[in-house]
Amino acid sequence: EKGLYPHYMLKEIDEQPLVIRKVISKYQDSEGSIRIDAGLRNRLNEADRIYIMACGTSYHAGLVGKQLLEKIAGIPVETHIASEFLYNRPILSSKPFFIFISQSGETADSRGVLVTIKQLQYPTLTITNVPGSTLSREADYTLLTYAGPEIAVASTKAYTAQIAVLAILAFDVMRERERAPHVNPFHELSIAANAMEIMINKKEMMEEIVWQYLNASRNCFFIGRGVDYYVSLEGALKLKEISYIQAEGFAGGELKHGTIALIEEGTPAIAILTQAHVRANMRSNVQEIKARGAHVCTISMEGLEESEDHMVLPVVHELLTPLVSVIPLQLIAYYAAKYRGCDIDKPRNLAKSVTVE
Ligand code: M6R
Repeated sequence: EKGLYPHYMLKEIDEQPLVIRKVISKYQDSEGSIRIDAGLRNRLNEADRIYIMACGTSYHAGLVGKQLLEKIAGIPVETHIASEFLYNRPILSSKPFFIFISQSGETADSRGVLVTIKQLQYPTLTITNVPGSTLSREADYTLLTYAGPEIAVASTKAYTAQIAVLAILAFDVMRERERAPHVNPFHELSIAANAMEIMINKKEMMEEIVWQYLNASRNCFFIGRGVDYYVSLEGALKLKEISYIQAEGFAGGELKHGTIALIEEGTPAIAILTQAHVRANMRSNVQEIKARGAHVCTISMEGLEESEDHMVLPVVHELLTPLVSVIPLQLIAYYAAKYRGCDIDKPRNLAKSVTVE
C-alpha cells in the first residue's frame, strides 16, 4: 500500500536506504562474512569472463556491475542488452558465466538468452526481486534483491538493490581470488545507505532544481564519466519514461564528437561528478557546454566539489556512488513528471513487466 504517499514511485524512492540495509542483513552471516552459496562461488571462480544480460534499468545496473566486478574482483565482464545479445551473439570466452538481472524475473528478452545459454550448458545466475519468477526458476542459481514489491512502472529501489547485490558478489569473488581484502563491503554499503537517506531528505532542493532547469524545456542532457556515465543513462531513462521530456545520457568525453551540436542557449544539462580520477576532464566538459549556452546543474561529491555546484553528495566508496547519485535523478524525474501532470506510476505505452520480445 502506498499509505500517505501520493505515488508508489515516491514511496519506493524513499524506501531505498532501508532496502540496502535489508540486503546487508540478508547477505551478511553471523561472523560478518558474505553468505553466498558455495556452488555459485565455485562456478564464479572458475569463470574466465562474466556476461551480464538485462534490459532497461536492470541493464544500467548491469553496467555498474561490470565496473564493480572488474575493478573489485578482477574478472573481465561484458554487459549486454539481452535483446541484442540474443540475435547478435559475440564470440564467447572458453569458460563463460552468465548473470541475468531482472526486477520481475519475467522479461521475455532476458529469458530468450537464458534459454539459449542453458542449451549451451553454461552456468547461470539470476539476480531478481521476485522469488520463484521464471528467470529464477530456470537459472542454476538465484540471488534475491529483497527490495519488496515494486509497483511503479519506473524502477527505482530494484535498481539500487541490484547494485548492492552485485557489489557483494564482487567483494565475495575478490575474497576468493585472494586480492587484498582491505574493504568491508557491508560497512561500505551501510555508509552508502546513510548517504542515500541524506539525499532523500533533500526533496525540496530537487523540486527547486526541476523548477529552475526543466520547467519550460522539452529536452535535457545528462553527462558523466565511468560509473557516472552509467548513472546518466539511468537518469535520462527515468526522465523520459515518466515526464516524456526527451533526455539522453552521454559520456562526458563524447559530447565534442557530435552531441555538442545540440546545445543551445538554455539547454538543460545535468552533470554528475563523483569520480576523482576524471574530475578535471569532467570539469572541462562542463565548461565546454556552458560556453555554448547550456544551463548546467552539477551534482558532485564531497571533496570534488566547487562552490557553484548545485548539489554535493556525501562521500561513499568510489564504486558505490551510483547508489547515491541516482537518487537526485530519480527525484528530478518524479518532480518533472508531477509538474507536467503525468501519470507517474503508470506512464503511457509502458507495462511493468515486458513479457513479449
Ligand atoms: O523486470 P526487469 O528488470 O527485467 O525489467 C527490465 C525493464 O523493462 C525495466 O527496467 C524498465 O526499463 C523500467 N520501466 C525502467 O524504469
